Amino acid sequence: MATDAEILGRNDVDDIDAILAITNRDVEEAIHVVQDNADAIFTWDYEKGKRPALNKLYEKAKHAQWNGETDLDWSIEVDQERQARNILELRAGLMADAGVDLTGTPMEKWTEKEWIEFSVENQNWSLSQFMHGEQGALICTAKIVETVPWIDAKYYASTQVMDEARHVEVFAKYLDTKLQGHYPINAHLQMLLDDIINDSRWDMTYLGMQIMVEGLALAAFGMAHQTTEDPLLKQLLRYVMSDEARHVAFGVLSLKEFYDGLTAAELLERQEFAFEAAVRMRDRFLQQEVWERMGVDVKLAIKTFNVGDKNNDPFQQLLFSKIVPNCKKLGLLDANDGWLRQRFDTLGVTQFEDWVDTGEEYLELDAVSADRAAAAAEEAAAG
Ligand SMILES: [Fe+2]
Ligand SMILES: [Fe+2]
Repeated sequence: MATDAEILGRNDVDDIDAILAITNRDVEEAIHVVQDNADAIFTWDYEKGKRPALNKLYEKAKHAQWNGETDLDWSIEVDQERQARNILELRAGLMADAGVDLTGTPMEKWTEKEWIEFSVENQNWSLSQFMHGEQGALICTAKIVETVPWIDAKYYASTQVMDEARHVEVFAKYLDTKLQGHYPINAHLQMLLDDIINDSRWDMTYLGMQIMVEGLALAAFGMAHQTTEDPLLKQLLRYVMSDEARHVAFGVLSLKEFYDGLTAAELLERQEFAFEAAVRMRDRFLQQEVWERMGVDVKLAIKTFNVGDKNNDPFQQLLFSKIVPNCKKLGLLDANDGWLRQRFDTLGVTQFEDWVDTGEEYLELDAVSADRAAAAAEEAAAG
């Protein structure tokens, strides 16, 4: 059994100095090379639909394709400063509720100008990280096409490669044409993506990407979709989420079958990986690069905004609302005497264990089909 230090590179999961010591040291890097240690696998069993749930997902995915250039209205003007103001109002309410006290910090002297600048940087940073995460998903699903031994899964994964290309494309276009400024990838996110791609076992790509990274993305996109008032970003997120829900379902359905056949020792390795991924993702949300750009000491900012225990932040916790029920469904929460449950308790996220898992949710979140049906009904009524 690995210790937390072996899994995370630090003894204390909340050691803030160790977390902040991990930074992106090459922000000018143009390409990033990762060793992919997995075997590419051919299968000679071409029987389609042997795994009916995956086959259903594949057929659904073929119908739910959309075009990032034409299905979104890019003529919409985006007023980032107005958006920043709206977000600030929300944030002010949250800060007051949490009892944040700015006395004696640089933020105490901030005028509206600095707060708006912070809010703009915050949005640039968040969407940049989403974009980088989407590229991670693009690479991981291309890898799954190669490494998974089942034909139904190869078929489905190939549709996800197309989905992820579209996601990278629309986030990049939104950042380039509607906002001002990209951020390089966050070092914690890069570490996690590198670990996922490095691993030689095909199911680890699924666990790291489909369950952990995409589970968190689905929750984060849902929150961003609710809070944004920009109609273009709202629609973009709505369509991306409709794809993401299928992606997480793909992970849950595939791993459920595979994990049912694993030994306790093998399951423990998966639990450790899930824990590591959860911590890396939590660490990335400290958004250290934004504080640096604002000229504020990162540690001071984190201490100021995370009153008391930083694992008590409700926003932070909600990011795990998809991951935890899915881990439970896969048997990862309770295997080996609840090893992962104890870790999730420390992170303050176990309360989501009985929320709906994502095995079927994609049917509800299929915004693309819903819009097409509505447009067809409108046409028929006019017709
Ligand atoms: Fe995606
Ligand atoms: Fe995805």
